[in-house]
Amino acid sequence: MKIIIDTDPGQDDALTILLALISPEIELLGVTTVAGNVGVQQATINALKTMELAGREDIPVFMGADRPLLRPLVNATHVHGRTGFEGADLPDPTITAAPEHAVDFLIRTVMDHPPGTITLCAIGPMTNLALAIAREPALRERVARIVTMSGAFSEVGNITPTAEFNIYVDPHAAAIVLESGIPITMLPLDVTHTLHTSAARLARFEALPNRVGAVVADWLRFEKRFEATKYGTDGGPLHDPNTVLWLLKPDLYRGRNVNVRVETGSELTMGMSVVDWWGVSGLPTNVLFLRECDVDAAYDLITERLARFPA
Ligand code: BDR
Ligand code: CA
Repeated sequence: MKIIIDTDPGQDDALTILLALISPEIELLGVTTVAGNVGVQQATINALKTMELAGREDIPVFMGADRPLLRPLVNATHVHGRTGFEGADLPDPTITAAPEHAVDFLIRTVMDHPPGTITLCAIGPMTNLALAIAREPALRERVARIVTMSGAFSEVGNITPTAEFNIYVDPHAAAIVLESGIPITMLPLDVTHTLHTSAARLARFEALPNRVGAVVADWLRFEKRFEATKYGTDGGPLHDPNTVLWLLKPDLYRGRNVNVRVETGSELTMGMSVVDWWGVSGLPTNVLFLRECDVDAAYDLITERLARFPA
């Protein structure tokens, strides 16, 4: 599988990149950054740090949109810390981002490959993807699939009472992506809120005989400080890695093909993902919407993959 990860790292974004890098089933062609959890400059630094942590300086990082299409940027430093990467102290990167803009890279890469061969993994606000689709409509036929961590049905919202963060930050971009006709798999809060980063699970990462395991444990321990208190669980949710886990083992997840639309008109419910679970709208299905995961098996897979990093 050839994939591009579009991201706003974020500790859980970084774990997603690491899982893609270490999995032989996946060829990561590049990482594109977007403003979200932190500003796009910081997100780019964090992506570069992740490449160096993995020893994969050969995978290029491209900086993308510095703000949502229409709305002012809202960040999530209350969850991820000021740098988006708090919890583990990684050195400043010695490598730099590629000179090409993320949107140019996305368009060029998809157009240079045969139709249906590139999967986009969207784990931040979908600004870059929407810009790419608007500039090159042929992407609608050429992208194999978009796998996104975003949205919610029963869990409703995490940044407002009715909106999940990635969609809330750029609802207009999410609407363009959802209406694009590209096959979409959505890993919403309904799934991610069940993957608690419990003390026992993080201890397994920490015990791995390499540095990556300890760094991931430290990152997720920081990220859960705010989240575990908020939800009253042993550990916080685990969001973005579900995208790569689904690519590796789709059988871990269960859901349905449904119609999903995004609210862009109401300030009260801005960014709400409106999921037609019961098919009452009569609108065509556009999303494979996943609601359940075999959580222990998912953590076993993460642990097994992190164990592959060298000591
Ligand atoms: C999403 O928001 C970010 O804080 C996480 O990295 C994830 O992509 C969860 O709502
Ligand atoms: Ca993210």
